[in-house]
Amino acid sequence: MKLFIDTANVEEIREIGEWGILEGVTTNPSLIAKEGLKLEDVMKEIVEIVEGPISAEVMGLKADEMLVEGRALSEIHPNIVIKVPFCEEGLKAIKKFHEENIKTNCTLIFSPAQALLAAKAGATFVSPFLGRLDDIGHVGMDLIESIKKIFVKGNISTEIISASIRGPQHVIQAAEAGSDIATVPYKVFKQMLNHPLTENGIEQFIRDYEGMKG
Ligand code: G3P
Repeated sequence: MKLFIDTANVEEIREIGEWGILEGVTTNPSLIAKEGLKLEDVMKEIVEIVEGPISAEVMGLKADEMLVEGRALSEIHPNIVIKVPFCEEGLKAIKKFHEENIKTNCTLIFSPAQALLAAKAGATFVSPFLGRLDDIGHVGMDLIESIKKIFVKGNISTEIISASIRGPQHVIQAAEAGSDIATVPYKVFKQMLNHPLTENGIEQFIRDYEGMKG
């Protein structure tokens, strides 16, 4: 499973990028707004840091508007992927982008039926939201498992991006369920580093080695 970072913060991308494990970036309008910057400017910076798909979301509600925005964003860099919200108009836009060889990430996927429609329209990626399903008492991971089964049985090449990740356990469960990608927030990447036995072990090794020398 590939690891993307889910943020529009360039410093966070730079820091995690230095670990050598990042293969892509996803953003959304809320994350862009948090940075208080223009989407195009953020994209221009991100493509210089990470080599891999970088998702930028369109805001139009009509397919024609999505197409105008998406075509302009895709001009910024070949790695830009157009993130399209799941809806009827989104499906029409995805189909057209597919015909134009522009990659898409269909977002706000909350059911296997939506994932199947997006894939059939030609989406390169679908983004099911785990955390937001958990928040309303569903089991988000069931959705990943179901989509995976449908895509494997149907020989569908659309990749699954597990999104709305809330903790390291989501990342591990997504990998176990066969998700192609998990898009992980900065905070969760930092949580993935930690284990008290590792920290204690390092301290113990240093103490023992320093003791031998003395
Ligand atoms: O970027 C899409 C998704 O990961 C958003 O997650 O935490 O706002 O539910 P969240």
